[in-house]
Amino acid sequence: MVSSEAHPIVKVGGLADAVSALAIQLQQQGVDIRILLPNYRECEFTTEGHTRIDDIVLGGNRYRAQILHSRIGTIPVFLLDIPELYDRSGIYGPRIDAAFEDNLQRFGALCAAAPGICRALDWLPEIVHGHDWQSGLLPQMFAAPHLPKHILTIHNIGYQGDFPLAQLPHTGFSRAFARKHGYLHAHKLNLLAGGIVSADAVTTVSRTYAREIQHHHGFGLEHLVRAHASQVTGITNGMDYQEWNPADDIYLHVGFDIDRMAGKGICKRELQMEFGLEPDPQIPVLGMVSRLVDQKGIVELADPEHGILGRLCRENQLQLVVLGSGEAWCEQELQRQARRCPQFGVHIGFDTAMSHRIAAGADFFLMPSRYEPCGLSQLYAMRYGAVPVATNTGGIADTVIDGRTGILFPKASPRHIYRAIERAVALYVREPDTYAAMQREAMQQRFDWGAAAAEYRQLYHQLQQPDSLRRT
Ligand code: ADP
Ligand code: GLC
Repeated sequence: MVSSEAHPIVKVGGLADAVSALAIQLQQQGVDIRILLPNYRECEFTTEGHTRIDDIVLGGNRYRAQILHSRIGTIPVFLLDIPELYDRSGIYGPRIDAAFEDNLQRFGALCAAAPGICRALDWLPEIVHGHDWQSGLLPQMFAAPHLPKHILTIHNIGYQGDFPLAQLPHTGFSRAFARKHGYLHAHKLNLLAGGIVSADAVTTVSRTYAREIQHHHGFGLEHLVRAHASQVTGITNGMDYQEWNPADDIYLHVGFDIDRMAGKGICKRELQMEFGLEPDPQIPVLGMVSRLVDQKGIVELADPEHGILGRLCRENQLQLVVLGSGEAWCEQELQRQARRCPQFGVHIGFDTAMSHRIAAGADFFLMPSRYEPCGLSQLYAMRYGAVPVATNTGGIADTVIDGRTGILFPKASPRHIYRAIERAVALYVREPDTYAAMQREAMQQRFDWGAAAAEYRQLYHQLQQPDSLRRT
């Protein structure tokens, strides 16, 4: 697998969780799997040694490189070490809302390194499984006679790795080659488009999202996905029940579970105090843990003119706690609103322990996404008895049942979000038994990575059949 994130070594969002959990399951099901990641400055891991590899040559650039060996559980991980590309502050950019100018070289080199690493380790994979646009060049990197099959998993089609055509020389492709293999789209170089065209199979992270990206939510690639629809499979992510287990969670003082719910009350009280809110058990607490980007409905929530946050706090008996980082305007606006409103607490930053405490302490989990390829947060929230209040889209539609395990609204408009929150508050205050039943049912849901991994394995096997020829 080639990825730009993998938990617990480096994480920006759900991609990291999905890649590692899937890899662990695949290994348990007998797949000999290894993960290639860039060695960013932010990576946290224990090194078990290093191996020098041949210089990486791509589009006139040459990089001296080595790989550092580590592990996620029992899975071997190779961290590609090229200080000039990765040893700086930031993963994709200096901030979540800004990209590095040399991202094409950074992730191009990651793909270009893969065959050399395999040679150096004398290990040839039958399948190369790339994640998101950062792996888009991979299908072009392996040379005969050792041509593995390529799978591309789209975790979010909103991020495509598009670059001005003037940067094409950094790939080493001619314009004709780039066009033939799908890398030119809308007068730009587009790594995800090329990956979709060039891979032997494409998957995405929920069934509903696989449909949605063919018709809307495709960010301009709808026609391309439709053209390859027979090769696009939606496999809904699972969640890691060891990492996210309210009965045995290293980040909680008190555990709880469906038959021992007293601990949840304590977690709620602690969360209220942590965020400087009135520790009142009667008042419903809504939690939110999110990258603060447009995808997540932050404009509808926090925009000073159209957002619902001000009205929400003025007119409702509820408390809201938000953990997130992202667009600067949103961070500032959330902090400003929190200063004005005693029922609203915010923490700007990335904090895994706090994300667990919010799921544990909240009565509801707010996820007003404009679109959501899968969404893992709603799965974690359900397991921790925080009933999702979320948009009926993508993976949320596949994992939350409106009125039974959550409260869904049709789209992320301010009006719909506001009404759904009102519905949640009314349920909590006026129908506590119905709320408790919903909470129980949410906690009982299981989204097993085992089943998802089995589907990926089936796809791997199909690709190994002699009649599954490369399409390009
Ligand atoms: P996405 O990948 O689009 O961000 P997901 O719901 O799939 O959405 O996954 C988000 C993951 O990132 C969850 O594990 C969530 O807890 C975590 N996360 C997001 N923002 C933060 C934050 N500020 N601090 C800690 N964890 C966060
Ligand atoms: C992306 C998507 C999210 C999904 C995650 C893991 O970051 O935005 O919906 O859960 O990838 O597949």
